[in-house]
Amino acid sequence: MTATPQLDLQNIPKHVAFIMDGNGRWAKNKGQQRLFGHAAGVESVKEIIKTARELGIAYLTMYAFSTENWARPSDEVEGLMNLLVEAISNEVDEMHQKGVRLLTIGDIQGLPGNCYQSLLAATERTKNNRELTLVLALNYSARQEIIQATLKAHELLQSGSISTPELTESQFSSLLNTKDIPDPELLIRTSGECRISNFLLWQLSYTELLFTDTHWPDFRRNEFINAIANYQKRERRFGMVSEQIQPNE
Ligand code: FPP
Repeated sequence: MTATPQLDLQNIPKHVAFIMDGNGRWAKNKGQQRLFGHAAGVESVKEIIKTARELGIAYLTMYAFSTENWARPSDEVEGLMNLLVEAISNEVDEMHQKGVRLLTIGDIQGLPGNCYQSLLAATERTKNNRELTLVLALNYSARQEIIQATLKAHELLQSGSISTPELTESQFSSLLNTKDIPDPELLIRTSGECRISNFLLWQLSYTELLFTDTHWPDFRRNEFINAIANYQKRERRFGMVSEQIQPNE
């Protein structure tokens, strides 16, 4: 067993995003149905939220359902939606008690009615909490998000609310679903695939990317802490040179 690394508590990322991949493969390896893997994945979500609170991480974004996921077999889609409703109903009291705010990004109106209603109720109930913000990406597509923001920018320009030189990066950011959420410092994708899959394309511009072979249901506290330790060893230069980042070294 590997020892838990010491973390620099002054350098904890404020926002960590996750592409939770590998539930299906995890289940298959155990001779089980895919939904068994998704249910186990919910346990990882809970453990990661708990660990993030301990570490003082302020935002977690989790890619729970992409617009492309509708193409999966209908029983899997239905099972995922039921799992989501069940997880919210089981966890919302504790989340609220622990100061977790739930937000969503993506077109949640396109989800089944019971799912949409339970998300609305949970986001409304937890809206004043600030210990940790959990952002669930549901029916989400980064390309769609960018198109919608572009259309809004077009309207603002046409109405004269802003003029072309004023359309800054921060203004554009404020037109995205993630307005008021800082960009993630770290993205973790589980299960060996090294791609972004239409997730937070604008927001990940300077994010550190970490890919692990571990399937999502096995991604738990220790590996999360190791991932943060890995992040802390990296030098984030934002296009500058090393000496500008650490002028005294
Ligand atoms: C990817 O694994 C996982 C998903 C598409 C869904 C993730 C959903 C959960 C963990 C449950 C959602 C619940 C909450 C409360 C957020 P995969 O099915 O693509 O795995 P595979 O690549 O091995 O087939």
